[in-house]
Amino acid sequence: MNKQDQFIDLKTEKRIDDLLQKMTIEEKFGQLTQYGPSLVGGFQVTFEELIAQLVTGRITKEEFEAQKDSFKEDLHEDKIRKGTVGSLLGTFGRDKINRVQKIAVEESRLGIPILNCVDVIHGFRTVFPIPLAESCTWEPELLEKSAAVAAKEAASEAVHLTFAPMLDIARDARWGRISEGNGEDPYLGSRIAAAKVRGYQGDDLKRGDSVLACAKHFMGYGAAEGGRDYNTVQMSMPVLRDIYLPPFKAALDAGVATVMSAFNDLNGIPCSVNRFLLSDLLRGELNFKGFVISDANSVGECIDHGVAADKKEAGALALRAGLDIDMATGSFELEGQNMLRDGLITQEEVDEAVRRVLRIKFAKGLFDNPYAKEQDVQLLPEHIALAREVSRRSIVLLKNDGCLPLSKTIQTLAVIGPYADEATDMMGAWAFTGKDKDVVTALAGIRSHVSSGTTVSYHKGCEPDGQVYDEAIEMAAGAEIIIAVVGEGSAMSGEASSMADISLSTGQQALLEKLKALGKPLVVLLQNGRPMAIPWVEANASALVEVWQLGIQGGEAVGDVLFGDYNPSGKLTVTFPHHSGQLPIYYNHPSTGRPGSVSKFTSKYMDMPLGPLFPFGYGLSYTTFAYRDLSLAKTVLAQEDRLEVSVMVKNTGDRFGEEVVQLYLRDLTASLVRPVKELKGFAKTALAPGEEKQIHFTIPVAEMGFHDQNGSYIVEPGRFKVFAGTSSADVLEADFEVVQS
Ligand code: GLC
Repeated sequence: MNKQDQFIDLKTEKRIDDLLQKMTIEEKFGQLTQYGPSLVGGFQVTFEELIAQLVTGRITKEEFEAQKDSFKEDLHEDKIRKGTVGSLLGTFGRDKINRVQKIAVEESRLGIPILNCVDVIHGFRTVFPIPLAESCTWEPELLEKSAAVAAKEAASEAVHLTFAPMLDIARDARWGRISEGNGEDPYLGSRIAAAKVRGYQGDDLKRGDSVLACAKHFMGYGAAEGGRDYNTVQMSMPVLRDIYLPPFKAALDAGVATVMSAFNDLNGIPCSVNRFLLSDLLRGELNFKGFVISDANSVGECIDHGVAADKKEAGALALRAGLDIDMATGSFELEGQNMLRDGLITQEEVDEAVRRVLRIKFAKGLFDNPYAKEQDVQLLPEHIALAREVSRRSIVLLKNDGCLPLSKTIQTLAVIGPYADEATDMMGAWAFTGKDKDVVTALAGIRSHVSSGTTVSYHKGCEPDGQVYDEAIEMAAGAEIIIAVVGEGSAMSGEASSMADISLSTGQQALLEKLKALGKPLVVLLQNGRPMAIPWVEANASALVEVWQLGIQGGEAVGDVLFGDYNPSGKLTVTFPHHSGQLPIYYNHPSTGRPGSVSKFTSKYMDMPLGPLFPFGYGLSYTTFAYRDLSLAKTVLAQEDRLEVSVMVKNTGDRFGEEVVQLYLRDLTASLVRPVKELKGFAKTALAPGEEKQIHFTIPVAEMGFHDQNGSYIVEPGRFKVFAGTSSADVLEADFEVVQS
């Protein structure tokens, strides 16, 4: 069911007609123009250069803080008063927004309210785990709650729209933005997409605790060649439709109000000027009724792409393709009238774009309630409690020789590593509305869980570039157990953070080897924003825990898992390789004509194992689970049938645990090569020690199809396999057949 028609209301459309008749062309182009809080002033450097100096370590945080106040923020009040800015980007503060909103509503000619748009990607003041971590919960309903908290906190600070959820499927961990998405699988990504749209938008967009959501980046951005951000994307239509489109379709069906066009070109046409994407597919096939906003300066970047000579041409191509708001090029404000004069666009096209923008502003209720009301909703206890719950459920136990969980009365613990006590890094990328002071680091969380008699020593251990501190090794030598916290800083993933080599930095690797040489149990916590190639760690650590970047309650969640207050239940939603050279690597790959690795002449590397280090769907528990009796109600199905499949799963250990039972299919023979597995169902199931349950799945045969080269969705008769198990690589299997009806 597609909820896009919720945005079509005849009374509102009539109000829009009236406005369009009154609006000048400048005011119309104003609605299609968004401005960021450009910062003017400053002395030796621009504000952007100052940030660059901070990020690259050329200045300290203190030096940055001292200088940043020399800049003043220009909120474009004059343009707003003239009605030539319809929305703002990345501007914070309820009073500030209400002030400029008052100018728009009470001083501009037609009183059209502005839209304040901010990147609330994984929490506002209550920062949740990065989206990739959250996806490892396999609990869409939980992520709907975290999105709802983010919306509530953001809306109270006059955020009307968040540029989230990010829905890019990613199969290449060199791409730093894999941290912002929901992993490599379209089925799980779709379930999470719909949940987050529901969470952000709620069941009443006009309510003061909801925000407009934005499905981004449309589309195919995660397939950037070489995992290099902003790079070209070439892909077949079947792959586009079967792998990258489903999460966007799920968001659209759930009623997402806006869509953001991506930076990349798709098969040679940049997304912001791609008529197939923005009109034929999005509005034609998928019935989208909201507005499309360009990602940042992606309209202007069409000049660098080489498809437009100047901003006038780029803006005209964008408007004709179906783009509505130009986020940061200013092409419509600067060149819109020249586009009309030169016949590059028509008045009707302008009016249609303005209509879509006004439609969403009406849907948000901004014409009737333009001002955000003060609400004391930041960091509420229930928000913090939810953050802890989501964080601990995001943790994935990758290896455990039995040393975990740790005893809370252990005598001496050494916590060593560059990310053990770094608040900013624990929050992850896109968390600039969070505050370091709210963060519980891994070290703090470990300390909060042990008894008063436990000695916890700490050292950062090394510098990422190579130096290992001897005193850290000496400190660790005195402890019973060593906990090493390694991985990536928050600025090493997210946008513009592609890495050709996704192994640990030399300093961290050297540190781990020296710690290992001490001959004590070595627990490694991986605090990172992407899969990493860590075969040495997998082979040498006593235990390996993927803790990702968990947000403000990360340390408490780490403590809950390490000391057994919570039995880890997370499962990987991205594949970990042995080596960067294996990328892209993903579970739902085609067989190729030469599968396997026994013979020399098969599709593999001579210098690397063929498979992953850790597969999609993998994650351990402090208990164990056993599967049996995968059974099908029928093994011959007509095309209108539904596959009824069940499997028994038992907790065979001595602790309560939760297991994500996964269901996959394979179409063995089809008119196109099909993946060796495709996730078609999952169920997170709680089991007491010794408890056994039968888990049931119903999969309509209609959902077993794929898109052909012409874009048609087809379900073909033939032989299939069904798999059920604890990961994509550990399953029971059975056969069935679909026959021509
Ligand atoms: C950035 C990102 C996009 C974000 C936008 C606004 O360049 O690509 O995800 O929403 O600009 O900050």
